[in-house]
Amino acid sequence: MNPNPDPTHDQGQDCEPIPVSVWATGQQSAAAQRAGRYHRDSTAHPAKMLPSIAAHAIAHYTRPGDLVLDPMCGIGTTLVEALHLGRRALGNEYETRWADIAHTNITLARAAGYDQEATVFTGDARTLTRVLPQAYLGAVDLIVTSPPYGDSTHGQVTVVPGGGVHKTDHRYGSTLDRGNLANIGLGRLLSGFTRILAASAAYLRPGGHIVITARPWRQHTELVDLPSLILTCADQAGLVPVERCVALLGRLADGDIIAHSSFFQRDCITKKRAAGLPVHLIAHEDVIILKKAAAQETSGIRSERWAA
Ligand SMILES: C[S@@+](CC[C@H](N)C(=O)[O-])C[C@H]1O[C@@H](n2cnc3c(N)ncnc32)[C@H](O)[C@@H]1O
Repeated sequence: MNPNPDPTHDQGQDCEPIPVSVWATGQQSAAAQRAGRYHRDSTAHPAKMLPSIAAHAIAHYTRPGDLVLDPMCGIGTTLVEALHLGRRALGNEYETRWADIAHTNITLARAAGYDQEATVFTGDARTLTRVLPQAYLGAVDLIVTSPPYGDSTHGQVTVVPGGGVHKTDHRYGSTLDRGNLANIGLGRLLSGFTRILAASAAYLRPGGHIVITARPWRQHTELVDLPSLILTCADQAGLVPVERCVALLGRLADGDIIAHSSFFQRDCITKKRAAGLPVHLIAHEDVIILKKAAAQETSGIRSERWAA
């Protein structure tokens, strides 16, 4: 594996950088990446994207001035990183709590001098065309997003002396609200995400890309391979895969990957392995890169190619 901290930097003399499919995005911890750039209330979101992953995708697939959309923008990581790279940003989030923080984070970026256009809407991305203005149809250069990981989020963990371990901020919103894809079970999450992809694709300009980050999780003992399931959602939404990459959450050092894990994450893995479950500390996310299918590319042709 290439130990160069920036995988797009070439290793030779006077050569063009050669992009590689492993993105060295975990050289700094999430907290270090967010320090001074995101409001402290952002910590409460249970499943934020690592800022360097959004930044890498935006730098790679767009140019300054381009428009970047995240239809499930949470606290606005995609939007903030787009602004810091001189791109315009458009976001949508179902929960007003996270949309408000996204707005605050955009205000922070503006105060730091990154004053490109950026707007956050609040609504259900399954019916995105009812939320976003029509003026944006076909005008977006890149979509960067990630679906909720079911109810598997870690959140904040505190230990109360004599009172055990307490979890907070490990939910996306009210579990009674069926509009949030995190709360409706895997089948509905996948059909909902398919609708979100199809609705979002209407905003993409011809030739624009969609970048999705996702990771698998365990439901009790069973592995839910979300990245592979997302490829099926993409097919159903009329999208074709153009690349599949890995974004590191851990740091590359001395030919090894050092995970940025908490004591509780390590403890949980140790106990599960002792109980015979072959789990690992998560040190990467899958990154799936898609485009709209050309008109002549039928679903049958796509299915055949994926089966090969
Ligand atoms: C994995 S998180 C994305 C986090 C975001 N990338 C960030 O860094 O903050 C998924 C987000 O999708 C939102 N969401 C769930 N269902 C939604 C829906 N129907 N429409 C729009 N957003 C939704 C959740 O509230 C959550 O904030």
